[in-house]
Amino acid sequence: MDKLNSYIEENRERFLEELFELLRIPSVSADSRHKKDMLDAARFVKEKLIAAGADSAEVIDTPGHPIVYGEKMINENLPTVLVYGHYDVQPPDPLELWESEPFNPVVKKTKNHPNGAIFARGASDDKGQFYMHVKAFEAMNKTGELNCNVKFMIEGEEEVGSAHLGGFCEKFKDKLACDVILISDTAMISMDTPSITTGLRGLSYVEVEVVGPNRDLHSGIYGGAVDNPANVLCKMIASLQDDDKRITIEGFYDDVEEVSEEERKLMNEAPFDLDSYKEDLEIDDVSGEKGFTSHDRTSIRPSLDVNGIWGGYTGEGAKTVLPSRAYAKVSMRLVPHQRSEKITELFTRHFKKIAPDTVKVEVTPHHGGEPVVVPSDSDEYRAAHLAIEDVFGVAPLPQRSGGSIPIVPLFEEVLGVKSILMGFGLNSDALHSPNEHFGIENYFKGIQTIPLFFKHYAELKNQ
Ligand code: BES
Ligand code: MN
Ligand code: MN
Repeated sequence: MDKLNSYIEENRERFLEELFELLRIPSVSADSRHKKDMLDAARFVKEKLIAAGADSAEVIDTPGHPIVYGEKMINENLPTVLVYGHYDVQPPDPLELWESEPFNPVVKKTKNHPNGAIFARGASDDKGQFYMHVKAFEAMNKTGELNCNVKFMIEGEEEVGSAHLGGFCEKFKDKLACDVILISDTAMISMDTPSITTGLRGLSYVEVEVVGPNRDLHSGIYGGAVDNPANVLCKMIASLQDDDKRITIEGFYDDVEEVSEEERKLMNEAPFDLDSYKEDLEIDDVSGEKGFTSHDRTSIRPSLDVNGIWGGYTGEGAKTVLPSRAYAKVSMRLVPHQRSEKITELFTRHFKKIAPDTVKVEVTPHHGGEPVVVPSDSDEYRAAHLAIEDVFGVAPLPQRSGGSIPIVPLFEEVLGVKSILMGFGLNSDALHSPNEHFGIENYFKGIQTIPLFFKHYAELKNQ
C-alpha cells in the first residue's frame, strides 16, 4: 500500500484540480436548460475513466440524461466490483444564500473541516464522492495493485428519481454482472467515528392541489364567506401529524418494522451530541415522534414533511387576495417494510377524505423509492470495515441513514446484487443546501480507503 499512498500523494494537486473541473460543470438534472452541461459532465467522466486505465468507457443515451459506463476486466476468476455514483446535482438555488459561486469551487476551513473543504454544488453529493473512485482506480492501475475487475456506472438522474436506470439495468443485465456494488453517496458520523451506512429510508413524494372558487377573489368582499384554499391546505397539512408527532394517515404504520428495544439501544450507542446538533442548526429544541430519539427519528422511523407550499400572492408588499388555488409538495420517508406505492395510495385516500366540501383536492404522485437494509455479516461488509479501520485507525460503526437512494433496492431486484454504502461525507456538508462542501481530508481518505476495500474484498473472496 506504500506505493499506492505515494502515488496518491504525488498526484494530490491534480486529483483536486480535476474534481474542481468537474464541479465547474453545472450538471443540474432537474433543469432542462442544463441539458448540454449534463452531456459535458458525462463526457468528462468517460474521458477520465479512460485516462485512469479503463479498457473501455462510453456515454450511453437514455430517454433522459446519459449514463456513463466503463470497465476494466483483468481476470474472470477474480471478483467484480461495480461502482455506482451520480454526476447530476441538485439545483443551486436559493443563489443569494451562497457565500461563493455554486459552480466555482473554493476551499475554506470550517468547524468540522479544519483542514479545508471544497465549497461547490455537488462537492459531497455526489461528484466529490464518486470521483474518489475514479482516482482510486487510477492509483490502483498505475501502481499495479488492481486485484478485482471493475465496472463503473455513473448516472445523471439520481436527483430526479433515476427514472431510466431500472430499464438500463434490465437491458444491460449481463454487461453489469458483478459480485458487489460499491457506492459512496452517504455520510459518516464524523472523522473520529467513521461509519458504514447499513440502511436507507424509502420515499413517497406527492404534490397536492387544493381548489376553491373559480378565480382569485377580493379578500375584503369575499373573505370570511368563502373558504380560502390556502387556509384549508394549512389546516389539512397540520392535521397529518398529531400532538405526539405521529402521522395520522390511516394504516400508515401498519407495515413499519418494529426494531427491538435491544437493537435500538445498540443503535443509540453511536455518539450523538444533542447540544451541538441544536447549535449547528441554531434551533432551541428538536421535535419528533414521541418515545424516540433524534437518532431513531431519522433512521428507523418514518417521517412526513412539506418540501414547499405556495399559493396566492407572494410578491413584494401586500395584495389583498383570496387565492383560488393552493399547493404543496409533501414527502414521506419510509422504513422497512413500508412500500412507497401503498403509502402514496394511503396518503391520497386520506387527503381526499379530510378535505372539506368547500374545496376540491388533487393528489399527483412523483417519484418514489423503497427502503433498504444492508446486512453486516457479508464479505463485502467485512472488507469495507477492514479498509476503514486501516485508514481511520478505528473500527467503523454500522449506521442506518435517513436519506434515500432508490436505485439500491432496485439493484437487488434486477441484478440480484447487494450494495455497500461506504460514504465519506458528513451530514453537516450542506447537501442540497447553499454552501454545500466536502472535506479535502475526506476526499483523500476516501481515495486511500477504496483500494483497501478492493484488497480485503479480493482476499476474503479467495478464502
Ligand atoms: N446522496 C443522497 C442520499 C443520501 C444522502 C443518503 C446522505 C444518505 C445520506 C441522494 O443523492 C439523494 O439526495 N437522494 C434523494 C432521493 C432522490 C429520489 C431524489 C433524497 O434522499 O432526498
Ligand atoms: Mn447523492
Ligand atoms: Mn442528493
